[in-house]
Amino acid sequence: MRRLRHHPAVRKLVASTSLSPADCVLPLFVCEGEGVTSPIASMPGQAQLSIDRLITEAEQAQELGLGGLILFGIPSTKDALGSDSTCEDGIIQRAVRAVKNAVPELLVMTDVCFCEYTDHGHCGPLTEIDGRTEVNNDATLELLGRQAVTHAKSGADVIAPSGMMDGMVGAIRAALDGANFSHLPILSYAAKYASAFYGPFRDAAESAPQFGDRRGYQMDFAANPDQALREVAFDLDEGADMIMVKPAMAYLDILAKVRAAFPGVPLAAYHVSGEYSMIKAAAASDWIDERSIALESLTAIRRAGADFILTYWAKDVARWLSA
Ligand code: PBG
Repeated sequence: MRRLRHHPAVRKLVASTSLSPADCVLPLFVCEGEGVTSPIASMPGQAQLSIDRLITEAEQAQELGLGGLILFGIPSTKDALGSDSTCEDGIIQRAVRAVKNAVPELLVMTDVCFCEYTDHGHCGPLTEIDGRTEVNNDATLELLGRQAVTHAKSGADVIAPSGMMDGMVGAIRAALDGANFSHLPILSYAAKYASAFYGPFRDAAESAPQFGDRRGYQMDFAANPDQALREVAFDLDEGADMIMVKPAMAYLDILAKVRAAFPGVPLAAYHVSGEYSMIKAAAASDWIDERSIALESLTAIRRAGADFILTYWAKDVARWLSA
């Protein structure tokens, strides 16, 4: 076996997993104001950005050849229904218009969900079921359709629902088709687990649930792994064009299972905030080498079956690989 490893050029020749900037989608957080770059303490190197600063990032993303951006809006006011998210002049709608206007060729995805916009921090309007407060599934579907259409009207290229409501892909597909956006693809966060790895993101997006948790809608990490396949099958049936598994590193088995069960379906993985911040923290203590660990992790996610990866290292990947 070592004959395949002796010469660096032979190693390169026989490698079968690649990683390139075009495989990476950069998540960014957009907030109100001007000239705002507000660092996120639990995510070193990441910040909430006002729209003008977001445009600078978008220009860099385009220059570096990234696969695209996924945008998350942080509104200045929140309410029980997350009204800012369905309004044509909301923070995310203005951000998308500005980015598409400044860098039209850059792919812009939008996260379609309510947790950043509701005052209770859950992913849709609430209701009581058997004495328990839950997100109202079907009331959320209607609002998701409206939210997705405002994103589409703003110029979003890919609609990415992340709320784990049953029927969300079908509802969004119907709403988009009804508004003359039948050409717009949906990237569904199909197998999204209720994960503590999202902790730093919730600081970044100010979206932590104000009570309880998300285990009534996001997947149970101890559930039978085939449940992920059922989630994916439902979403594809409802019209999803691309599928996501999230988080990534602790869920490579799920990623590989989905890859094997649905060959040819474009598959994404989200290397989430907690996965990023753990590596950042260890690297800041000089316990590990950030660049090596990040590239090894992202390559492993590709090897497990991801066609593309949502990663906070997207710009670094481009710089590291060209250095
Ligand atoms: C929900 C959403 C979350 C993430 C992406 N979309 C948070 C959640 O479900 O609580 C997490 C991403 C990350 O941790 O990097 N809008």
